[in-house]
Amino acid sequence: MTFTEDALKGRVAVITGGGGGIGFGIAKAFAAAGARLVLASRNEERLQGAIKEIEGMGGEAIAVQADVRNYDDVARVVKTAVGTYGTLDVMIANAAGNFVVPAAEMSPNAWKTVIDIDLNGTFYCARAAHPALKDSKFGGRFIAISTTRALEGWPGCAHAGAAKAGIMSLIRTLTGEWGKDGIRCNTIAPGAIGDTEGVKRIYEDAGRREHELSSIPLGEFGKTADIANAAVFLCSDAGAYVAGADIVVDGGRNRGRASPIVTVPNK
Ligand code: HXC
Repeated sequence: MTFTEDALKGRVAVITGGGGGIGFGIAKAFAAAGARLVLASRNEERLQGAIKEIEGMGGEAIAVQADVRNYDDVARVVKTAVGTYGTLDVMIANAAGNFVVPAAEMSPNAWKTVIDIDLNGTFYCARAAHPALKDSKFGGRFIAISTTRALEGWPGCAHAGAAKAGIMSLIRTLTGEWGKDGIRCNTIAPGAIGDTEGVKRIYEDAGRREHELSSIPLGEFGKTADIANAAVFLCSDAGAYVAGADIVVDGGRNRGRASPIVTVPNK
């Protein structure tokens, strides 16, 4: 246990992509810190498994089947949260799609699919949640997931890199527009998180596991719990003065990559 059991007490949080991976990691940490949850995902079966696990740990959660590419679905998720619990304090726009394909071979529909899920879906979450977050007695929180690859370019993932860069821009704009409404908007940039579909697909299946590990100064892949801890901090009272930030949780990979140590032999 990293946070107290009441760190998020009284708060209601929606987590998109909450049935697995980083989203479910956040859900477990939020439940342990006292939040009530609405988990949204396209996959109903996965959602039910997640809800069972949260209930098994004494938490409170409901599932809403939804595709973040569809604004009406997202609006229904928010409506269900407010209808069920009477409030919505936190929106975590976590649902994402990604796969490796060189830009020159990427079909227009492949590009559109990832932009729709990652970038448009994040905007839909923000837009639909805004009225409820504005009413939150704790000060609303909107968190989206970014990546350190967004601004440096991401060979093999042009669609996801561009979408995440768009998300970072969106969050900065919303910080300026919604601060007056008490809403704190931030991104979290995960590095390579070992227990996720993303790392399996982007690194392990592509035979890049050892190469990626060697680029992480802390020498190991992260865990979904590492990202969840950053999210709990941002959504608790302890994170009340953090807005417009991009919290990088990557074992130092970004710095390691940016500053390779070059040894020059003595003459
Ligand atoms: C090339 C691909 C492809 C691939 C799909 N497409 N996968 N092109 N290589 N591996 C193309 C399809 O051919 C199609 O284009 C278009 O993309 C849409 O594909 P669909 O399968 O019809 O889409 P859909 O069923 O909606 O599924 C969405 C998805 C899928 C993104 C493609 O993978 C998904 O649901 N992913 C969710 C889980 C996920 O991706 N998790 C990883 C997130 S991790 P055409 O032209 O044929 O119609 C992450 C960060 C990773 O984002 C960080 C690592 C460090």
